[in-house]
Amino acid sequence: MSPASNLPGPHPGRFEDQVAIVTGGASGIGEATCRRLVAEGATVVIADVNEERAQALAAELGPAARAQVFDAADVKSIERLVLGTVERLGRLDVLHNNAALSAPDIHRRDNNAIDIEFEVWDHVMAVNLRGYLAGCKYALPTMIAQGGGAIVNTASTGGFAGDITRMAYSVSKAAIIGLTRQIATHHGKQGIRCNAVAPGLVLTPGTRGAAASVIEVMQRHLLVPEFGEPEDIAALVCFLASAEARYINGQTYIADGGMLAHNPTMADLVDMARRGG
Ligand SMILES: NC(=O)c1ccc[n+]([C@@H]2O[C@H](COP(=O)([O-])OP(=O)(O)OC[C@H]3O[C@@H](n4cnc5c(N)ncnc54)[C@H](O)[C@@H]3O)[C@@H](O)[C@H]2O)c1
Repeated sequence: MSPASNLPGPHPGRFEDQVAIVTGGASGIGEATCRRLVAEGATVVIADVNEERAQALAAELGPAARAQVFDAADVKSIERLVLGTVERLGRLDVLHNNAALSAPDIHRRDNNAIDIEFEVWDHVMAVNLRGYLAGCKYALPTMIAQGGGAIVNTASTGGFAGDITRMAYSVSKAAIIGLTRQIATHHGKQGIRCNAVAPGLVLTPGTRGAAASVIEVMQRHLLVPEFGEPEDIAALVCFLASAEARYINGQTYIADGGMLAHNPTMADLVDMARRGG
């Protein structure tokens, strides 16, 4: 995969006169999506629990971007985020539900069915799943009244495949795939398109801290030369949010460098063949 700087550029004007909210917009995939949406003509609300980073990004992106602090665990703050955006900017065309818990302490305690504390399970579900539902709940009436809108949820390959870490996270991401289909089914005829992206590992501030040895293991299983960048996911989010995707609804698109496309034994067999086995 090419470095982000070599990726094909934005489509200027694709979101002209449109208003978008990006949750978790101050970092990683959300930040890359905010940058692309602004470059493509949208007015973007960078919504994040990290006020300082959201404001710094808004200042950098100029008048088409505004920062809004909210907490995905607090549905009242999501209501304020969505209704306040509509009040201030007059409409809402795109909602990118993307924020997810990234606290290392929670990841460590999000382990397996025997050991997990219900408090950890509930917290993960509140931020990662109920937070997305709340975004939809408050955005849909405005979008429907306008004649349509696009919602793009960030799921994960963790929603498709089991793993030995972060059980509640994986279950929340699988549920997002279901939520995406439900929103599309209930509201598609009212002009709402709701789709999801399921990234594999892309290197963001949330994941760069992973041990080099773990990153090396993951890389053996890619079907492309390099890890993806946040910009690879942002390009897919923007395509799904745009009118070019008008015939796509209720779908989840995996962008994982081919990680889930092959037999799980592939990397071991390649190594065995190299060793002459
Ligand atoms: N990076 C990856 O490899 C990867 C892979 C699969 C899925 N994802 C998903 O992509 C999304 C973005 O991940 P990223 O790697 O860009 O993460 P990141 O840590 O770089 O950014 C996440 C942003 O969300 C914000 N956030 C966290 N908790 C919040 C809360 N309670 N309320 C509001 N904002 C909150 C953080 O402040 C941060 O700005 C997440 O949904 C994640 O699960 C990422």
